[in-house]
Amino acid sequence: ASPLLDDVQEVLVSEQHIARRVQALGQQISADYRGREPVLIGILKGAVLFLSDLLRALTIHASVDFMAISSYGTGTQSSGVVRILKDLDHPIAGRDVLIVEDIVDTGLTIRYLLDNLRSRRPASLRVCVLLDKRERRQIPVELDYVGFEIPDRFVVGYGLDYAERYRNLPFIGVLRPEVIRDQGGR
Ligand code: PRP
Ligand code: MN
Ligand code: MG
Repeated sequence: ASPLLDDVQEVLVSEQHIARRVQALGQQISADYRGREPVLIGILKGAVLFLSDLLRALTIHASVDFMAISSYGTGTQSSGVVRILKDLDHPIAGRDVLIVEDIVDTGLTIRYLLDNLRSRRPASLRVCVLLDKRERRQIPVELDYVGFEIPDRFVVGYGLDYAERYRNLPFIGVLRPEVIRDQGGR
């Protein structure tokens, strides 16, 4: 019996599927950035597990930095107002920057990040996201590397939380309805 697994209704993307896809993304990114040394920017906290696995799948030199942001809004509505809670440790001017995110949902977070980081004049700026919940998009964004497209369901695991729980599930899953009090807050 696992108090963690007991809350899961369904596995949407298995641990093995994630591992295989992350390896493929790592190979593709290594080929695309050959001869360059990108800085991977992980967006706290959701992207932490994906970033750590993707990093190990790279066969090129790469550095890592982190940003933490908070989006204001209640329930499923996000105001689009975003605040930086933790900024990068190092400047990115002239660097090849790859944003690493766990999920793009409405697109508000990634839109803000792209605008903010672009203003710092990186040599290049791309996005690598594990999950693309395209049906929920409010703002069109171009995603350079996508792990999986997923349907409009509230998912947790592999970094994604519900009320700060379930990030440590090794797969992407859907919670049992009785576990969820409020579907808001992705
Ligand atoms: C989640 C997720 C993305 C963002 C996507 O982060 O990790 O960063 O929301 O949603 P959007 O496309 O609608 O903007 P969250 O704000 O829950 O913080 P967390 O990563 O710390 O869980
Ligand atoms: Mn996040
Ligand atoms: Mg969250």
